[in-house]
Amino acid sequence: MKVLVVGSGGREHAICVSVAKSPKVDKIYCAPGNAGIGQIAECVDIGAMEFDKLVDFAKEKEIDLTVIGMDDPLVGGVVDKFEEAGLRVFGPRKNAAILEGSKEFSKDLMKKYNIPTAGYENFDSPEEAMKYLETAKMPIVLKADGLALGKGVLICQTREEAMEGVKTLMLDKKFGEAGNTIVIEEFMTGKEVSVLSFVDGKTIKIMTSAQDHKRAKDGDQGLNTGGMGTFSPSPFYTDDVDEFCKKYIYQASVDAMAAESRPFTGIIFFGLMLTEDGPKVLEYNARFGDPEAQVVLPRMKNDIIDVFEACIDGKLDEIDLEFEDNAAVCVVLASDGYPVSYEKGFEIKGLEQFDGKDGYYVFHAGTKLDDGKIVTNGGRVLGVTAKGDTLKEARANAYEATKLIDFDNKYMRTDIGKEL
Ligand code: AMP
Ligand code: GLY
Repeated sequence: MKVLVVGSGGREHAICVSVAKSPKVDKIYCAPGNAGIGQIAECVDIGAMEFDKLVDFAKEKEIDLTVIGMDDPLVGGVVDKFEEAGLRVFGPRKNAAILEGSKEFSKDLMKKYNIPTAGYENFDSPEEAMKYLETAKMPIVLKADGLALGKGVLICQTREEAMEGVKTLMLDKKFGEAGNTIVIEEFMTGKEVSVLSFVDGKTIKIMTSAQDHKRAKDGDQGLNTGGMGTFSPSPFYTDDVDEFCKKYIYQASVDAMAAESRPFTGIIFFGLMLTEDGPKVLEYNARFGDPEAQVVLPRMKNDIIDVFEACIDGKLDEIDLEFEDNAAVCVVLASDGYPVSYEKGFEIKGLEQFDGKDGYYVFHAGTKLDDGKIVTNGGRVLGVTAKGDTLKEARANAYEATKLIDFDNKYMRTDIGKEL
């Protein structure tokens, strides 16, 4: 069969690697892809938001299955466009992708269906928001309602900071329309865990857990980024936590969406905070995490095509999702200066040393081909993943493997998974 993957990051590279392992697949296309993806798929110069072009391409090439990796096209309704054209596609429709696309929607859903989450209020008026903050307990969290590249969340220690935050989001419109409505939410403390799942509208199957490191610098210091590294499984995701989430969060979320006539098919990513009062949902995403996909997918034993098809056909109950009994760590190699400003266009050396190296992966994020050479083309450049019998071993393997890669301005955190 022929498969089209939509997106261009490390997550989409990891999806392509899993798809390429399926004996059912003869050909992979990726729109728009990147230099690493180009080694296993044919990259097509169509942007992820160019829905009509994507549909035309899928029809012309007789694509059997399209997999949408990114949030923007999902929230924008790309799946509906494919379905209207009679094409098979993996991902939630627009009316379900709102689970990620609107924080106001997801918070109201959790409240209505008693799914544990932080207490909150929604505001569409900056005056009302500021009035509320006058007496609210600090620290407090402000969230832009819409998609903001994972950056629309402000953790405010003081009242002044919170007032300033309302101005940034709602008046200065730092994240554009995404800040027309904001959620003001209780600040929670605890360990964070990412749990990804496959969903077919009614059945949910949980993948192995993971945890990412969002801050740019060692010791979880510095600015928030798209993710500087990740590991799987999370040792904090205990059997008790799993049992609690199965009882109160996972199926409850899927059932809530179905009850709202928004059946969810695709990936639900649960961002969980393990608080003193038990696990609570920080956020939902409607797609694989990036870089979580780079540690979770390499450990999955199933043929990913079977799982995608089961989700689309509403037969996920027939799938026994299996993961290797080991661990994986992914260290992101970034351009120094990320996430603020950084140079691009430096040649990347040493990539070929990963060819055929069992248990090791180098997933491309910001790379491109330039005159036959692979060069840096973004803030997050590569994700180096290694497996091991234990997290400690996987971590040692991953850091050893980062030494194989060289480019100017190479920057990484040195403590991914270190507290373990
Ligand atoms: P989100 O995009 O909603 O996951 O938020 C991004 C990050 O902000 C999360 O991964 C948490 O580290 C932090 N965060 C979000 N909401 C809260 C909260 N209510 N309390 C504490 N930290 C939070
Ligand atoms: N790693 C967090 C995310 O993909 O949103």
